[in-house]
Order: sequence, then structure tokens, then C-alpha cells
Amino acid sequence: MSAPMEISFSAPPPPPDAACTVVATPALVPAAAVSSSSPSPPPQQQQAAAVVAPSPADDKVLVSVEVLLHATSAARHSDVQAAVERMLEARSLSYVDGPVPIPADNSFLIENVKKIQICDTDEWVENHKVLLFWQVKPVVHVFQLSEDGPGEEPGEDDTLSTFNEWALPAKEFDGLWESLLYEVGLKQRLLRYAASALLFTERGVDPCLVSWNRIVLLHGPPGTGKTSLCKALAQKLSIRFKSRYSMCQLIEVNAHSLFSKWFSESGKLVAKLFQKIQEMVEEESNLVFVLIDEVESLAAARQAAISGSEPSDSIRVVNALLTQMDKLKSWPNVIILTTSNITTAIDIAFVDRADIKAYVGPPTLQARYEILRSCIQELLRVGILTYPQGGSVPCILNYSTLREKQHCPEAAEPNGSFHLSSLLYEAAELCEGLSGRSLRKLPFLAHASVANPSCCDASTFMHTLIQTAKREISESRG
Ligand SMILES: Nc1ncnc2c1ncn2[C@@H]1O[C@H](COP(=O)(O)OP(=O)(O)O)[C@@H](O)[C@H]1O
Ligand SMILES: [Mg+2]
Repeated sequence: MSAPMEISFSAPPPPPDAACTVVATPALVPAAAVSSSSPSPPPQQQQAAAVVAPSPADDKVLVSVEVLLHATSAARHSDVQAAVERMLEARSLSYVDGPVPIPADNSFLIENVKKIQICDTDEWVENHKVLLFWQVKPVVHVFQLSEDGPGEEPGEDDTLSTFNEWALPAKEFDGLWESLLYEVGLKQRLLRYAASALLFTERGVDPCLVSWNRIVLLHGPPGTGKTSLCKALAQKLSIRFKSRYSMCQLIEVNAHSLFSKWFSESGKLVAKLFQKIQEMVEEESNLVFVLIDEVESLAAARQAAISGSEPSDSIRVVNALLTQMDKLKSWPNVIILTTSNITTAIDIAFVDRADIKAYVGPPTLQARYEILRSCIQELLRVGILTYPQGGSVPCILNYSTLREKQHCPEAAEPNGSFHLSSLLYEAAELCEGLSGRSLRKLPFLAHASVANPSCCDASTFMHTLIQTAKREISESRG
């Protein structure tokens, strides 16, 4: 068995609208092929795009372009794909992350397409180079969101449900991937590992010669986004692999419910659950993600049963679950996603050998700043925060722009953006040690303590945010 890949997810993220451009790594495309003396695009255009791999034929860089159809659209995906490819061809701009406007005169696209988005190039941010249209081969993924919401298998007698089930890509997870902010490029690496694992399976690589598996383990402190990242990854893969798998499903196993007080029923629940999963994976055009959150609870339950402090029934249930998972992993169209809040080794066969292991740590300064920035922009968008100077909504500077301006403050225009951003930076600095989950609650807590919540100007709010951060930090340190 090959050594697991350890990926660290704790470093700062790129700002969502980062001033970054995209090139392939030298390993993918000769640097000369993409290094460019061309001028950088203006900041609003300088964003990241998803580079998957170079095209072998012409050394072009493959960039993912996701095309979301309207819920009501009945257009054939292949027609939309062709139309988007033609539209992109006609667009001689540099490839940057973020939305691509749909030309107003393209009635077919206007009618059918809700958004077009270039994705996932934050790993190339540091290269500060421009990816021009002639260097790119866009890979267009057309999809529609399932609006069904989670299907639940209710437990008997009002017990917790055993699992939740989503058809992917689901409306519920739209934007989740983008909202999770980590070290530059690491989400992409996770995506690539999973994509490679699926490709190896699909091409029938002999596992005796090259070994790999389709088990992902995200571990780290609570509240760092592990569960969300698993769901977002499943969503991304379902979009990227849409052409190969006609159906994608996510099953979230509720391990706690299996150890309910109805132990005698638990064996039956496990059997029922896995029978359902089995039916799904037998259809080879289905791609099935099985999420088992907080796997350490299974190991702990088994340990407690062995030591006699829990009913011996529980060991049967845990063992049944583990055996079923072990069996499941041999199916080519299954990806097992697991999380753990502990960082020590987990004594569970199907995760201790996970090939895709990632430590997800508390957000760094840049990540904290960007998480808070996304919160503030949302509050400005809905008008809960107002801007004293009136006019258009002020932009809170992204992290790298702010850092540049901090170094040469004379370049900072006195328009309030820099001022607001500096206050936000101060709050982000204070929040060291808070999880992503706590950070996303902070603006809410701050709002609850402002003097006049119905009319809250952004600058006053920032000061309250700083006070709230101080309070939260001192409380979290006890
Ligand atoms: N790095 C991050 N970037 C953005 N949001 C985050 C981050 N980490 C946590 N969050 C927020 O915290 C919420 C809770 O995360 P969750 O996935 O439940 O964490 P975990 O499973 O690690 O306990 C997420 O929905 C997300 O809004
Ligand atoms: Mg979790």
C-alpha cells in the first residue's frame, strides 16, 4: 500500500476575487509556454481559473468552466456545451476565475443558462502570470441542480434517521466549495487526487501494479470545515464527472443513530442501509459518495464495547458497519469520505489506509480575513450594513490588495475602502485560534450588540466587530 498523501489545509486562502492570474505549473506546461510578457488584466478581471492539466495535443492548459442551467431548461447538455465553447472562442480575453457574462445577443444561452463560471485556479496564484485565451482549452461542464433536498430514511419510533441522501449536484451545496477558504491550491489538490482516483478506476489500472484507493480522510479540530468540505468535494466531482456518470448520489451515514437505544434494531438498520447503497453502486453509471462523519466515534464505540463499558450489541453494529464499508470500497464507482476531529491514528481498517488524507487546521490570518470579508460583503449586499458616504456599496479590499496598500499607505485612496478593510484586518488578527465556524458567527454576534441594529453603518460595525472578537477570544480561552 502506498504511503498516504498528507495535505495540509491550514494556510491562507486566495481571496475569492483575488488579483491573480493563471498559469500551469512548470510540471504541466513548460513555463515558457505560458509565462507571458503580456500586461496584467485589470484587477476586476484578474481572478483565478481552474487548470486541470495540459492538453497533450497542443500543450494548452485545460481550464474548467462550469455552466449551470436554469431549473426549467430542457436544452440538451451537448448543445449548451457547444454554444458555450463557441462563445468562449469568440471571447479573446484572459482566463480568470469567476463568472463569465453571457452575451446579451446570445438568446439560446440567455434562455437556458443561469451562470457560467471559470473555476479553481488558486493554486496558480503565486505565479502572477496571465493565462490568455490562446493558451487555454476550456473544459465545459454543463449541469443542472437537483432541488429535491435531502431524502431521509426515518428511524423507527422517532429515532434519528440512519442516513441522509442527496442527488448531486444539489442546490443545497451550490457555492459551498467557493465559500470554504484554505491554503492556496489545497482544495484543488484534493479535487485532483479524487479525480485521479476515479480516472485510474475508469481506465482499469491494475491495482497489483499501481495501488490507490478512493478513501478520503479529513482530520483536524472541530469547526474547521471538514464536513462541509466533504460535501463540497462530492458536489464538485459530480459536476466534473457528469459526462461519465449520469447519476451521482451522496449518502451521509448518521453513525450516532446506529447506536441508538434500540440496539437490537441497529443490526437491521445497517443491513438496510447497505442494501440500499449496494443497489446504487451496482448500476455502473452511478457515482456514489458515502460520507461517514466523525469516524472516531466508531472506533471509540468499539473500544468501549471491548472494555465492557457499553452493551456488547454495539460491537456487533460497529463491526457490521466496518465490514460493509470495507466491502464497499472495492466498487469502482464509490468514493468514501470520512472526517475525524482527532488527529491521532484511527483504528479503523478502511480509513487508516486512506490515500487522500488531509489535515484541516484553524484558519490562518489570510483565511480569517477572507472569511470575515465574505460575511461583511453579504451584510452590505442585503443592506443590514450601510455605507456612510452613500452611493455604491464599498468594496472591502481583498487580502493581497490590502497588504500591498498597507506597505505603501500613500497609495491608499481615502475613500473608506482602505479604512474599512484595515479595521477588518484588525479583527482578523485578533481572531487567531477561532475556527471557521466561530468566525462565521462573529458578525451576527456583533450585530446583536450594536446600539442601533436597524441602521448600522459599516465603520461603526467594524469597531463592534473588533470588540466582539476580543470578547469571543477571551471567552474561548476561558
Ligand atoms: N476554512 C473555512 N472557510 C470558510 N468557512 C469555514 C471554514 N471552516 C469552517 N467554516 C464554516 O464553519 C461551518 C462549519 O464547518 P463544518 O464543516 O461543520 O466543520 P467540521 O466538520 O470541521 O466541524 C461551515 O459551514 C463553514 O461555514
Ligand atoms: Mg463535522
